Amino acid sequence: GQPRGQVRPGSSGAAVQRAPQAAGPEEAGEDAEVSTRKKTFAEVQTERLEQAERTVLIKCPPKLNEKKLLQYLSSHGNIKSHFFFENRGIHALIEFSEKNSIASLQDAIGLPSAAEYHVVPFKSRLFTFMLKNPVSQAAEETPLHLSPQSHIPVKELIEKLCHADSISSQMYILLNEYQLTDENIKLRYLVCSLVRDFARAYFPDSTVKPFGSSVNTFGKLGCDVDMFLDFHDTQKHAAKTKKGPFDMEYQMKRLPSERLATQKILSVVGDCLDNFGPGCVSVQKILNARCPLVKFSHQPTGFQCDLSVSNSIAIKSSELLYIYGCLDSRVRALVFSVRCWARVHGLTNSIPGTWITNFSLTMMVMFFLQRRSPPIIPTLDQLKELADQKDKLVIGGYDCSFVSDLSKIKCTSNTETLDVLLGDFFEYYGNFDFRRNSINLRKGKEVNKPESSPLYIWNPFEQDLNISKNVNQPQLEKFVAMARESAWILRKEQKAQQMTNKEPWGLAALLIPFGKSNSNKMKNRMKGIGSETIRNLLDSLKLNNPTNLQKAVGK
Ligand code: GTP
Ligand code: MG
Repeated sequence: GQPRGQVRPGSSGAAVQRAPQAAGPEEAGEDAEVSTRKKTFAEVQTERLEQAERTVLIKCPPKLNEKKLLQYLSSHGNIKSHFFFENRGIHALIEFSEKNSIASLQDAIGLPSAAEYHVVPFKSRLFTFMLKNPVSQAAEETPLHLSPQSHIPVKELIEKLCHADSISSQMYILLNEYQLTDENIKLRYLVCSLVRDFARAYFPDSTVKPFGSSVNTFGKLGCDVDMFLDFHDTQKHAAKTKKGPFDMEYQMKRLPSERLATQKILSVVGDCLDNFGPGCVSVQKILNARCPLVKFSHQPTGFQCDLSVSNSIAIKSSELLYIYGCLDSRVRALVFSVRCWARVHGLTNSIPGTWITNFSLTMMVMFFLQRRSPPIIPTLDQLKELADQKDKLVIGGYDCSFVSDLSKIKCTSNTETLDVLLGDFFEYYGNFDFRRNSINLRKGKEVNKPESSPLYIWNPFEQDLNISKNVNQPQLEKFVAMARESAWILRKEQKAQQMTNKEPWGLAALLIPFGKSNSNKMKNRMKGIGSETIRNLLDSLKLNNPTNLQKAVGK
């Protein structure tokens, strides 16, 4: 297979990659011998959703005796896993082995006293654990182990990176610090499962599934939870309609458009979360957007959530990225580094605008990896060739079929190091002819731009759409400038010298805003090089004046 050993960091113990993480991490040991085969996207989702249904979340008092809590809960059933985390107080996530343990627990739990407030009698799987006698029930000496739910600040990360022995190791350290943990993934699926409980009040067959970076292997700690309501119980209905000489169908309310139905459904589910959802705050219905959604903040888990209604194309995009992320360990390492780099330099932003989105940026990394020689990941057309009957899928007239079984995809023979790939990524996009060419992951080729958007990335499934239509010329120019500067820093770098001077080097040097602490160094480098182009480039960065780059990016 792909020579994972070669791309792993060498001596740096901290950077050992949790390779199976993306494919659904297992509790240590338990499933280890079952199979090393990577699970399909659908398998991971089914497994995780089922696990979430056996899970409860308990707010705990500050001084807690872990053993006693577990003992108390065990009287309702076997506890399969648990962990604690801090989020406006201590919380415990408890996964039971059996779903019916939760019903047993719920039967034994009391309602909050309604002295001050009137409580809405909706019983969820969020509980508060209290000590009747805090003094005698106080905790033992051993403090609780709290599982972190956010990543370290960039400043701390940079310090860690300086101790690594290669850029490749630095990239794996970043990946390990930022990627979602098994615990965090459990919390994400739990939120979906809790929202599903509300949706089922109206639609008993519905499910709520996560998509986007929570599931596509590129999520970092702290990213939002994108989830959608799914009503497609297709298998069940297909089986029923075939039997017998008669046909029966449900009488259902008919609406003039799917969009209107989506808006009505989201409106009531949004109201329900707003009025009755424990811990659901800042509920915002954004029903007139291109893709209508309900935004809310889930306080017990601390997640910002975006709820929409089943969007098959977005799910296929998540699955495609999942496959790419699982194929080779370098893929996720490169994406995490590039995303972090882009965030530091203000190329991406959490608020929507004219900047590049993380989604577009990830697609740009995928395209770059398709363009390597030999390619590190296959094109979408190649994945389509490998699809079998059950993978066939047409959505809205677009063929969205591609292989779901990862073991059918041949591993790459490319053995380039991440040191090379990171530098070449910046060089590739620093010199890309954005004026003429577009990025097409289906073909894995640069093709002529079909229209004049500054940045054109083909939607892999809806072939006439540009996923980066929002990006304007100044933002693209800034991206190119930053890419060039970064390529230059990596090329010129004298690692040994910088390491002895304890200066940030390699990836660390790229994660410091260029305008600030680097400006003196940049001037020094300019003296040495004396290149007119670089001088212009630096001036343009300093003055925030993109004219010098306009030629390159085509204005
Ligand atoms: P984060 O920044 O980590 O949240 O990445 P993300 O991939 O989750 O992005 P985001 O939350 O903005 O969007 C969620 C999902 O919606 C993405 O993964 C895509 O599947 C889809 N999506 C987002 N933006 C676009 C777009 O412009 N076009 C299309 N076709 N899909 C998009
Ligand atoms: Mg997201």
